[in-house]
Amino acid sequence: MDPNTSGLVQKLAEAGQSHLLQFWKELSPKDQQELFQDLQGLDVLEINGFFKNAMETSSSTKHEKMDGRMEPVPREVLGSVTRDRESLKDWEVKGLDCIAQSKVAVLLLAGGQGTRLGVSYPKGMYDVGLPSHKTLFQIQAERILKLQQLAEQKTTVKCCVPWYIMTSGRTMESTKDFFSQHKYFGLDKNNVIFFQQGMLPAMDYTGKIILESKGKLSMAPDGNGGLYRALGNQGILDDMQRRGVEFIHVYCVDNILVKVADPTFIGFCVQKGADCGAKVVEKTNSTEAVGVVCKVDGRYQVVEYSEITLPTAQKRSSDGRLMFNAGNVANHFFSFSFLRDVVQKYEPQLQHHVAQKKIPFVDDQGQLIKPEKPNGIKMEKFVFDIFQFAKTFVVYEVLREDEFSPLKNADTQGGKDTPTTARHALMSLHHRWVLNAGGHFIDENGRRVPAIPSLKDGTDLPIKCEISPLVSYAGEGLEELVKGREFQATLMIDERGVHELVKNGV
Ligand code: UTP
Repeated sequence: MDPNTSGLVQKLAEAGQSHLLQFWKELSPKDQQELFQDLQGLDVLEINGFFKNAMETSSSTKHEKMDGRMEPVPREVLGSVTRDRESLKDWEVKGLDCIAQSKVAVLLLAGGQGTRLGVSYPKGMYDVGLPSHKTLFQIQAERILKLQQLAEQKTTVKCCVPWYIMTSGRTMESTKDFFSQHKYFGLDKNNVIFFQQGMLPAMDYTGKIILESKGKLSMAPDGNGGLYRALGNQGILDDMQRRGVEFIHVYCVDNILVKVADPTFIGFCVQKGADCGAKVVEKTNSTEAVGVVCKVDGRYQVVEYSEITLPTAQKRSSDGRLMFNAGNVANHFFSFSFLRDVVQKYEPQLQHHVAQKKIPFVDDQGQLIKPEKPNGIKMEKFVFDIFQFAKTFVVYEVLREDEFSPLKNADTQGGKDTPTTARHALMSLHHRWVLNAGGHFIDENGRRVPAIPSLKDGTDLPIKCEISPLVSYAGEGLEELVKGREFQATLMIDERGVHELVKNGV
């Protein structure tokens, strides 16, 4: 483990990264060993190349707006839960059929650091405070279980939806332990497959790798688009092929309403012969900070809100809706063959995006500094960067209140995308399911609670109501449990029955 004789000193010198060994002599043997291993495993020349390309792309695109090159998603590639109601049943049947034949897999992107939420454990382990206290992982696992059941009921053949879970160096062990402690939430352990995405060092603006302590590089996951490299080098594509997976639903861990392996979305994509599809929600107003799916120079991509001018963001179509309204929710469909082509052919063409960050570092004196302004960059690829390679791309529009409520920020930060907003979104969806299935809610005096809560009388909080995914995947099958009945919140419906927690003094 001598940096000189092993060639490490020379390797770093050639790459202009010799400063990484500047505190070598001060390190304990254990720290020396760890740093040595980390540096040996790093392809510094490749990383320098990533930095150069990412910085060039970022400075050339920084001031250039996309407006003139953009076209909205044409109607013929668009499916919509509100505008294509007559087709929904067909798509669902098709999707369930694919699931029943074990052709569908789900792939969870769970390698993020969840910095804004600020917890030390993986985001999927978060409990947003539902009556059941289920975590995001459990909710998703139970949706998979239910879907397998629904598909099996159709065919009476046993099927399986393998669940691929991408973690990062920081989240792998705790994620695996959590699943094992909870017995995979009832799923077959062989069908839950963990894999790890890559990490990249943070760099300062001159391209020097940042040390977060004297013997440790500042490393971060390489973005959710790190998926494509990981699929190849972790043997995941091979595993999919072995299992005969033909269609893959990719989604983010933090959306509490996610319809995992949504049969209607899958059926729509399959019937359209798509190799790549994106679920979107309507952008609510022109200044909403969300990327939109559209065509740029004839190819599909996500254009970030910072890349367009306000007049373009405000443009409206003849139907009065925003012209660029396909809000990206990182919820995608891929055919296996498309994914294989991406991994084997296109991945190296993807550029890293640059995120300017405040990155703690040790200065030349070995002092730890926590900067107040951004002092360097992290490099990330994005999962949607591959849309441009699709031959048949489709877009599927769904209702935000039914399908999208991400958990990004802590409650202490208030505002958007917090545990409270996620919890409310789920309970209000389940409340609507009960009402639509013919159930009613009453208050403690036995009076019917209005279906639409009114701000005036302080009842704007959602009714406390939670339905286990093991009972209903998307609101189906509830009539026999709730029709014509009155309930007092908190209402919980799970595989053991219907419970009113207040009445029972819980
Ligand atoms: P975000 O970009 O919201 O990041 O990820 P995050 O890690 O959840 O939160 P912040 O930005 O640090 O506060 C969107 C989705 O992409 C996954 C996340 O786990 C989440 O499901 N992701 C993100 C990865 O899988 N890998 C990454 O490198 C980054």
